Amino acid sequence: MAAFAERMAPVVLLWLAVSLSGTWAVDKGNFKTCDQSAFCKRQRALKPGESPYRALLETMELTSTRLTLQLINDNNKVRLLLELYRLQGNITRVKINELKPLKPRYEVPDVLIREPPTEP
Ligand SMILES: *[C@@H]1O[C@H](CO)[C@@H](O)[C@H](O)[C@H]1NC(C)=O
Repeated sequence: MAAFAERMAPVVLLWLAVSLSGTWAVDKGNFKTCDQSAFCKRQRALKPGESPYRALLETMELTSTRLTLQLINDNNKVRLLLELYRLQGNITRVKINELKPLKPRYEVPDVLIREPPTEP
């Protein structure tokens, strides 16, 4: 049995080398780094406990399936709209968008088969 394992060891090593080199052959140039995304850079620069965002509780609206409220960035006074949806199966959907965007964020249409069913 030990002899078999000794004979197979080089084969296993070769197989591992081939499999792992395939995994490492991803071209990182195809992907944006955080430094190339202003949004990512801003969020990573935030220090814990120093968020400029504040919830404006007086803007809160509640229906049976959706809660909305506005967030404000105290540094630039830009307002965001936070939407929380109560979905079936104990799932909560969180969406945050600019309240009044200069250009509305593009929402890819085919990511979801349909709007997720909400819990009544
Ligand atoms: C949702 O959560 C409640 C309380 O924890 C649990 O009793 C129930 O089984 C959960 N439902 C699903 C679909 O996971």
